[in-house]
Amino acid sequence: MAATAVAQSNAEENRSISAMAFITDSVAQARISGDLFGVTLGKANVREGSIDTALALSEWPRDLDLLIVDLATAHDPVADAAALKTALPGSCMVIGVGRINDVALYRDLMAVGFNDYLSLPLPEGAMGRAVDRALELRERGAGPVANAAKSAAKPRTLCVVGARGGVGATTLAVSLASMLGTRLQEEVLLIDFDLHYGSMMLALDLEAIDALREALDQPDRIDALFIQQVAQKKSDLLYAIGAEEPPGGGFQARPHAASDFLRSVHRRFRWIVADVPRGDPVIQRQVMEASTDVVLVTDLSLPGVRDAMRLQQLAHDVAPSARLHLVTGGVLDPRRSAVKVADLERTMKRKVDCQLPADVPSALAAVNFGKPLPEAAPTSPIVKALRPLVAALDEPVDEGAPAAKGATRTFMRFTKGLQLKRK
Ligand SMILES: Nc1ncnc2c1ncn2[C@@H]1O[C@H](COP(=O)(O)OP(=O)(O)OP(=O)(O)O)[C@@H](O)[C@H]1O
Ligand SMILES: [Mg+2]
Repeated sequence: MAATAVAQSNAEENRSISAMAFITDSVAQARISGDLFGVTLGKANVREGSIDTALALSEWPRDLDLLIVDLATAHDPVADAAALKTALPGSCMVIGVGRINDVALYRDLMAVGFNDYLSLPLPEGAMGRAVDRALELRERGAGPVANAAKSAAKPRTLCVVGARGGVGATTLAVSLASMLGTRLQEEVLLIDFDLHYGSMMLALDLEAIDALREALDQPDRIDALFIQQVAQKKSDLLYAIGAEEPPGGGFQARPHAASDFLRSVHRRFRWIVADVPRGDPVIQRQVMEASTDVVLVTDLSLPGVRDAMRLQQLAHDVAPSARLHLVTGGVLDPRRSAVKVADLERTMKRKVDCQLPADVPSALAAVNFGKPLPEAAPTSPIVKALRPLVAALDEPVDEGAPAAKGATRTFMRFTKGLQLKRK
């Protein structure tokens, strides 16, 4: 048993912590039970199992202080760790154990919000000391590093919406998902919410499935197995879900369907990039409501500016704490566009975050190879222009930061200006 200072002080003050452990190896189980004895007053719940067992649990005790999980059998320990962190109560500390003794793995686990990682076989008292360290840090208010790791591990839903048709929203959603996956070395899931006419699965040369509509109808039925079956793998770090509902069939998502669905899927994927249809205001609103980030892409046309403003207002109304990123795109050379970037910025009362150049050969290469543009054409100026946006998306969510307000009056002034120019 680890008779360490924090454990003793907890025991003396009769403050025990609530702890669970899922461990495959029986020797490690016994060692962990012993090390946790003091700090849990003998009430640690140490079971046979692994991170898979933990991920299969649908509910966690709200007051759980500490979870110890065995990552030795995990195929992708970091992705599983990120998924587990999103399912656990925010205040729960997590310590991983496993057979790999590698500092890169340790860092990745810390980055997704784990408090420590110990390699097996566990030396005597090692777990007790790790728990003490984690408790001490928690008592000190977690500290900036731990806080950063915690907020970095928060589930993120990025909603990509085009102000007009054909402005490159799908190309952008796929490119961002692919670049985020590479940057974070984390699996990212793409979802095409245009159930009838979505083009994402076609663009990635993947099969559309019926199950997306079912899942939106009955989100309670979504479990780890369902997600594993419907999320199609494009590459090691990129998965996608999309449907091809018959054109005539109407589908009205019930209230909160998209947010319930996204919450369930976040148990498996921390990062979700949603390609959201312009033509379905119900789904558009629901996905936006559930998003931590919104990327609004518009071309430099008068209708584009008008609709970008309206969508900016919608984002402000339904997702006030989501971060909004404004992107200009489209197949037209911006130098020949009716509207200039400065006009757009003035009208929308905000800066454009990213200007995507027109690059038809790279867009074509992506279509021809059925791959994300950054993979099909890594040297494309589109990829270069996207890098700062990807870095900005990788920053931890700043809760409470409002999306920029819409500015309908400015648009009226702007259109008047354009009319005068035409005269
Ligand atoms: N920056 C770009 N330069 C050149 N071509 C592009 C660019 N972005 C997208 N394209 C091409 O423009 C077409 C429309 O792109 P995409 O499907 O991404 O647009 P969208 O906004 O999702 O359209 P929809 O409204 O149909 O959903 C595609 O053929 C794509 O390859
Ligand atoms: Mg599209």
